[in-house]
This record gives sequence, C-alpha cells and structure tokens, in this order.
Amino acid sequence: MEVFMRHLIHVNDLSDNEVGQILKNAFAYKRGETPKTLKDKKVITTFFENSTRTLSSFEMAVKNLGGEVIRLDVSRSSTSKGETLRDTAANLNAMRPDAIVIRHSTAGAGYFLIPKVSCPIINGGDGAHSHPTQALLDLMTLLESFQSLEGKRIAIVGDIKNSRVANSNIALLPRFGAELLLVAPPHFLPQTSLPTTSNLQDAIEQCDAIISLRTQTERHDLQTYGSLQDYADDFCLTMERIGDKKLVIMHPGPVHRNIDISDFVLDDPRSKVLEQVQNGVFMRMAVMDFFINHQ
Ligand code: CP
Repeated sequence: MEVFMRHLIHVNDLSDNEVGQILKNAFAYKRGETPKTLKDKKVITTFFENSTRTLSSFEMAVKNLGGEVIRLDVSRSSTSKGETLRDTAANLNAMRPDAIVIRHSTAGAGYFLIPKVSCPIINGGDGAHSHPTQALLDLMTLLESFQSLEGKRIAIVGDIKNSRVANSNIALLPRFGAELLLVAPPHFLPQTSLPTTSNLQDAIEQCDAIISLRTQTERHDLQTYGSLQDYADDFCLTMERIGDKKLVIMHPGPVHRNIDISDFVLDDPRSKVLEQVQNGVFMRMAVMDFFINHQ
C-alpha cells in the first residue's frame, strides 16, 4: 500500500496557511519554547555540496527538539564507488529514518529520491533550483522588521540567474505582499516578468530591504565579467551607496566581503545577516516538526 508522504523540495510545496503555521512555531521557538517533539525521531543529513549554515542549523534544529541526527559522510559514502543517488536513498530509507535532508549540486535532486523513500525529503539546496528553508528564514527575518510585507519593496541584488536563494525568494515573498525588484548586470538576470534594473543606487532609493547574493562562480560555465572587482564596483553595498537610508540588509551567506557587501555595511545595525543565521535554526526546527509530526 502506497503511503502518501509530503516533502519540501520547493516553497510551493507549502500553502500560505502552512507557511503561517510554520512561522508561528518558529517565532515561538525563538521566544524560548522548545518542546521535545522530535524525541525518538532520527534524521539523516546528506550534504553532497559544502555548507556551513544550512547543515549546522538543520542538525541543531533536530537536536533542539530532542531528535537524533545521523550525518552521511558523503566523502566516505558508496556514491564514490558508483552507487546512484536513488540507490543511496533506497538504502538510507531501509534504515527507517524519520526524514532525510539533502543538499546536492543537481537541480531537482530531491525529486529523484522521493519514489525510493517512505519518509519526508527536505531540500537543503539543489543546484540553482531551490532552497526553500532559506526563503522561509528570510521571510521570518523580514517579518521581524516589517510585521507585514504588504507593499514593501525588496530588491534582490546580484547573480540572480544562478541563485537558488533568489528563485525561492521570488516564489515565496510576493505571496506575502512583497514587491520585488531584481538588480543585476544583464548577464546575471533571469528571464522574468518582474521589474529589473542594473542601477543599484536607484534600487537603494526605492526599496525597504535589500537581499544581496553571492556571485555563484562555481555555476558559471564562462566568465561573464572582467573580474569580481569589476562586479563590486557596480553592485557592492557600501556605506557611500546606502548613506543613512532606512533599510534592512540581508544576505544568505557565504558573503564575499567587499564584493557583495562591504565590511562596514556588514557591521552596520541595518545588516541582518547574523539574525538570518539565528532564525535559520528556529525556522528549521519548525519545518522538521511540521514534516515529521504533521503529515
Ligand atoms: N545560506 C546557505 O545556504 O549557506 P550554506 O551554503 O553555508 O549552507
């Protein structure tokens, strides 16, 4: 008998109401409520791409709720002996975990796993496709500053075309009222019906918040600009550019200092970069509780 199981591969796997419930729980955890709702639950983390924030915060989230984490050491796993991703999933699933978190360089990798498992698959970032928990924690961070996103103008700046974070924010934030402006050199812009500009100064004047992105050099087939410094000359968020404008400044990390955002702006109280990281733990607690306990 096939058991219906929900997975989180894309932000559209959640309705607005469900995002609301998850946010409510994430804020409650941030206020200090930590019920052990994952007691006796086991989560396998499988990160085929490097990560600092996402891997650590998923693992901390599970442990905070009383669960246990089994981390697949990908460099020592049998994928290096030719085992397919699907077979890896089937074998991990045979150990009966309560969820599997995956990060992979292939867009849509989570969809390959779904037919082989009987537990939720949670996407920790797949190629340039999707990073749903990053968008959820970004939404949480924005709501701490604005209470509501209705009518708020948010600029996404940088290598948008190659960014799973941008894709997920573009899919999620307008559902909660945000008006997006994409800011990038033409070769970093995706095909889009959203407003675009390559004038960062104009964007700063118009917007309430800025989400800066890292240039995803690992996803560039060809070098499409002279150097990172050429890019920074036009798109780095500096004190000269932001002045005393009231702004919320965010970045998913890892930050290329003085390319994406200057040292001074990172230290400015308007920068919410570390709040995003902190919120990532609470948001991932809420996501893991939702997908493991409320199927
Ligand atoms: N934001 C983010 O995905 O960071 P990591 O690559 O360090 O997980």
